[in-house]
Amino acid sequence: MSGRGRRVTGIQAAADLRVERTPEASARVAAGVVVEALRAGLDRGPRARWVLAGGTTPLALYRLLAEDPEALDWSRVDFFWGDERCVEPTDPASNYRMAREALLDPLGIEPDRCFRIEGELAPAVAAERYGRRVAGVLERSDWDLVLLGLGGDGHTASLFPPRPTPEEEGWVVATEALDPPRRRVSMTLAALARTRRTLFLVAGASKSEALADVLGGVAALHASALLRRAPRVTWCVDRAAAARVRAIECG
Ligand code: 6PG
Repeated sequence: MSGRGRRVTGIQAAADLRVERTPEASARVAAGVVVEALRAGLDRGPRARWVLAGGTTPLALYRLLAEDPEALDWSRVDFFWGDERCVEPTDPASNYRMAREALLDPLGIEPDRCFRIEGELAPAVAAERYGRRVAGVLERSDWDLVLLGLGGDGHTASLFPPRPTPEEEGWVVATEALDPPRRRVSMTLAALARTRRTLFLVAGASKSEALADVLGGVAALHASALLRRAPRVTWCVDRAAAARVRAIECG
């Protein structure tokens, strides 16, 4: 039983949960979902918009995609970030740097197609500036794909309960993580939910309790709330992360 107190709902029954034996196999399935989602976006219009995730889990996925430059017309994709650590873009902890090295540079993505959070600025300033950027996109369209990870404590992006709440107004906020780098900037749930497709990539036994809680509908977790608000959520997880996920009787 997780410390958060499990409230069982039928949420798990609706989850598109794809369990693979290893993190590498899971990243391969996730790569297929990314290509499918971005191709759909490019079928709908001249450009596709992808919100990237940070942390370490996406690295294998980004490297796989970088090996397949022909998968789609990457020059027609605009890249955004769901969250960022408040560090320089050259800092090893930067989510922007991780994606640039593993995905964007190998694919030859032009810098003017990469809309990063300015982690080098004061958090409130970076949040306000990125909030205007996000508002400009969401006035005209939705994201085509939002990629997210899951922390062992159940957080996603840099949304750490209890603040901000899932109901937080606005598109981008400054937040405080428990682990360093503590100062973060994150899209809110409202911004992350404005997407045609959501992909969670989760790997490792350390995530098994959080994944079970999220799929079980623990209300305090933003990922649970996102499951209710985003139209199409796919989970690519390895067997270790899925160890505590079980058939939950719905109703
Ligand atoms: C970050 C991420 C964060 C991450 C989870 C999982 O900036 O760290 O946005 O939400 O996805 O903490 O991190 P790992 O992939 O490193 O386990």
